[in-house]
Amino acid sequence: MSTPSEPAESESTYVIDAENAAEMARLMNQALFLTKRMGGLFPERSDLANIHDVLDIACGPGGWVLDVARSYPSVQVIGIDISQIMVAYARALAATDQLTNARFRLMNALNSLDFPDHSFDLVNARLVAPFMPSAAWPALMQECQRILRPGGVIRLTEAEAAITNSPAFEKIIELGTGALKLAGQSFSPDGRHIGITPILGRFLRDAGYTHIQRVAYAIDSSAGTEANKEFCQDYMVAFKLVQPFLIKMGVMTQGEIDRLYQQIMTGMQLHDFCSILFLLTVWGEKPR
Ligand SMILES: C[S@@+](CC[C@H](N)C(=O)[O-])C[C@H]1O[C@@H](n2cnc3c(N)ncnc32)[C@H](O)[C@@H]1O
Repeated sequence: MSTPSEPAESESTYVIDAENAAEMARLMNQALFLTKRMGGLFPERSDLANIHDVLDIACGPGGWVLDVARSYPSVQVIGIDISQIMVAYARALAATDQLTNARFRLMNALNSLDFPDHSFDLVNARLVAPFMPSAAWPALMQECQRILRPGGVIRLTEAEAAITNSPAFEKIIELGTGALKLAGQSFSPDGRHIGITPILGRFLRDAGYTHIQRVAYAIDSSAGTEANKEFCQDYMVAFKLVQPFLIKMGVMTQGEIDRLYQQIMTGMQLHDFCSILFLLTVWGEKPR
């Protein structure tokens, strides 16, 4: 049986192989992209007064954690992730930058979290939906509540799939959200969306958090925008790495994906390609 610090690979419900080096590189770039386009590490807060201990759930190769550690030297920040290569690389980056206030641990967020009660002032989770079975959210919200101090803050950021004017892009999104539905990782009644953003507030209310607030982001990644190149690179890599999941869920064959992939590449390079990415951050407090 696996312990919280020794996740077995077979347990992974992530839609991409978390031990893939290309995914690790993609997540480094994606973290930079998101933090920049959302306007910072904690764009909804003016300062980190009273925040001393921070946990980042599913930290990937540690982009957000390392930035927090660099920007707030008095804050202790821990990132957890199921992937051995992500955690190993994040530790190496922290050591290289001599960030003694950043630590990383191998942990499966679907099990009970290996931290004592009242350990953290803030728990952050950004883009965890790609591995969260729908039914697992309430338990994670309760675990976060247990490890937060009274008055501590939980902060969730999730995205829906980008909306574009490219038929091929829209097709793979339709197949991807349908596959998520089949995998039990969707809140959309018909699989047309990921459906996570409307539900985030309910998770916090149901778990007993108070002072729940939200802020939405719309990232325009159309041709000619500043965000376009990074957005296209991210999706081109993600669409490659997610193919085994689409095939496993039976929504496409490899031949169909290969043809669609070529059409997506062409479509994204058109001068009139338009795309918008919606994200939502929802946060709330553990009652004092
Ligand atoms: C989309 S990435 C998260 C990105 C990161 N939070 C950020 O904002 O840059 C998803 C991450 O979840 C990790 N993961 C997948 N299943 C997990 C699990 N059961 N427990 C913890 N981490 C998991 C993957 O290894 C991957 O690093």
